[in-house]
Amino acid sequence: MGFTILGTGKAVPEYVMTNDELSTMVETNDEWIRTRTGIEERRICKKETITDLTVEAANNALQNAGIQASQLDLIICSTMRGENITPSQACIIQREIGADCPAFDVNAACSGFIYALDIADGYFARKKVKHVLIVSMDNLSNIIDWTDRSTCVLFGDGGAAVVLGEGDDLLSINLTSVGNDEVLLIPHGTNSSPFYEHEEKRAVLHMMGGEVYKFAVNAMSAGIRKSVSDAGIEMSDIDCVIPHQANMRIINASAKNLGIDREKFFCNIQHYGNTSSGSVPLALDEANHAGVLKKGDIVAMCAFGAGLTSGSCVIRWNK
Ligand code: UT7
Repeated sequence: MGFTILGTGKAVPEYVMTNDELSTMVETNDEWIRTRTGIEERRICKKETITDLTVEAANNALQNAGIQASQLDLIICSTMRGENITPSQACIIQREIGADCPAFDVNAACSGFIYALDIADGYFARKKVKHVLIVSMDNLSNIIDWTDRSTCVLFGDGGAAVVLGEGDDLLSINLTSVGNDEVLLIPHGTNSSPFYEHEEKRAVLHMMGGEVYKFAVNAMSAGIRKSVSDAGIEMSDIDCVIPHQANMRIINASAKNLGIDREKFFCNIQHYGNTSSGSVPLALDEANHAGVLKKGDIVAMCAFGAGLTSGSCVIRWNK
């Protein structure tokens, strides 16, 4: 017993930050950002907290699925930026939506949504759950170095949620991790211990973009190839790919590597930038509501991020 996706729902902050506005903050320009990344604008939290966004996405997904919060058996929140170190963001969501079930967070950076799907699949396989809510949301704007043009232009805030029910629409799923804190790292903030002897690193996102780029293209290509093979289907059977929205050039290069028609890759990076673990479900939700996904479609999803982690899966869209 696996799962089927019953519904999706997104939440993004109201404030739209354009490339032109960023150009007034760091030495960059709209042309560089568009041609090197495909990003035109991103959403940034001003008034909204991560709790506002996660709860809004959760309620939207429940509504889309036609499920009450009281019917949920498990809540998983994939995030690096929960409101607190503890309690988990999933517990806060549980309280706010009025659910009564176990709830916990998972951190696999931008791959978090695929990791959460795999964890949920285990609960369905053990027949412990009938309905699971996954919320994937990050607001990296509060941990980005806004003076570093090589990173601050890439990220945005937002994400989405899905409600899973019993079914057999997960055809394959694969996760990878390669421990590496050199090419992509966000250290913790202040260490309150007067006894600690190590130097503190600045608590902002540090990234070697070129190294992540190479990892990303390989991870997307190898991940989709393996998930397609594990599902026992051909590459040509894929109707739609929902890729992590980190850089349009990464998506284009992966499409070329895989020999999948670029038109089949759903992209909304132009409007949101890289929303970390929110990225794949945010694209899935928009593809769902735009009518891009048809009942019976074979959909591949893939993500990569800090860790270094990656995740890919193939599902049958059955909504
Ligand atoms: O979720 C996973 C998170 N991370 C990623 O997915 C990131 C993956 N990496 C990338 O997307 C790309 O490597 C970047 C978009 C980060 C960078 O693109 P690139 O084509 O690899 O550019 P680069 O780092 O090689 O820089 C090229 C030039 C440099 O100038 P010089 O040395 O050639 O004179 C940079 O200083 O572009 C310059 N540059 C900029 N110029 C204007 C870097 N950032 C900017 C900027 N505006 N924002």
